[in-house]
Amino acid sequence: MNRTKQLIDKLEKTSRLTKEEWIALIQDRNQAAAQYLFERARYWQHKYFGNRIYTRGLIEFTNYCKNDCYYCGIRRSNRQAVRYRLTKEQIMECCGSGYELGFRTFVLQGGEDGWFTQEKLLEIVRAIKKEYPDCALTLSLGERSKESYEELFRAGADRYLLRHETADRQHYRRLHPPELSAENRRQCLWDLKEIGYQTGTGFMVGSPGQTPEHLAEDMLFIRELEPHMAGIGPFVPHHETPFSQEAGGTVELTLFMIGLLRVMLPNLLLPATTALGTIDPQGREKGIQAGANVVMPNLSPTSVRKKYELYDNKICTGDEAAECRNCLSKRMKNIGYELVSDRGDYRGRKKEENHV
Ligand code: 5AD
Ligand code: FES
Repeated sequence: MNRTKQLIDKLEKTSRLTKEEWIALIQDRNQAAAQYLFERARYWQHKYFGNRIYTRGLIEFTNYCKNDCYYCGIRRSNRQAVRYRLTKEQIMECCGSGYELGFRTFVLQGGEDGWFTQEKLLEIVRAIKKEYPDCALTLSLGERSKESYEELFRAGADRYLLRHETADRQHYRRLHPPELSAENRRQCLWDLKEIGYQTGTGFMVGSPGQTPEHLAEDMLFIRELEPHMAGIGPFVPHHETPFSQEAGGTVELTLFMIGLLRVMLPNLLLPATTALGTIDPQGREKGIQAGANVVMPNLSPTSVRKKYELYDNKICTGDEAAECRNCLSKRMKNIGYELVSDRGDYRGRKKEENHV
């Protein structure tokens, strides 16, 4: 405990650890270390956000994807997946019902689907920003050219989510087919930040072949990128993928990584993810208590929710949007937190507040 506690203290004071220190901290963690970490994580969570939990309404608008990531249920080789695309009108309806429910951030997420050309995407972005100028619009459309990102930004998109998945090149190879590379992924993230997007990255915990060294690299990469958001969740096997027989990530390690992220970058936006809620009925609550401060309920039409199946047993695929919002609101209240309706923009720290 002493060594791990010292490392947590060092992380809190300096916001940095060496790769060896990260590996030691992750490898030698135990329950006592986790309890200590979560206390420190909640200290910073409360300092920056109080008991406020931000919400983002997720619209999964297409499950067509040209990529073939080995972990993902909507990979192109999954012939069993029932494919769908929402029309622009359906997307606008999702925003409409989300707005009524109090959402002020919409996240348009989809597979890499060429049917949605740049022109179509620009049109959708403009329409949403015109109708809901007080809302933030987040895109999560995968890897694109810098020019495409720039145009979408100029059309009004405010934020972009693109998980780096794993920062280690070899491990990236293990999870993806040869046409995808860790370098390109990371370049996209640097481009997004440079353009001015509030940028989110993240990784899966417990993906096949992942070691503490890989997680150390993820932490070093996130420290360097300084994203505005980091989404992490356990890897959950999907039965129609090459990883169907692999073990999933654990709640325990996912929570520990959430705590580490909160202490490293105290004002980071950190979602308690649906994947975490999927492997543990109290997963999202536990995520919040480990330092997370965002939830991202689904606004997609009920008819398509089951089809956006990235992994098995995904929760919240049967409910009305309203039910998820109320359900989450109650769940947060139960543990002493409050769902709020504002855009929840990332706020930089003032110099004097900066503990690093
Ligand atoms: N288990 C957990 N998370 C997954 N994702 C994709 N497939 C899985 C899976 N089987 C995550 C990826 C992606 C995000 C949209 O969902 O990290 O970036
Ligand atoms: Fe979807 Fe509880 S959040 S049912």
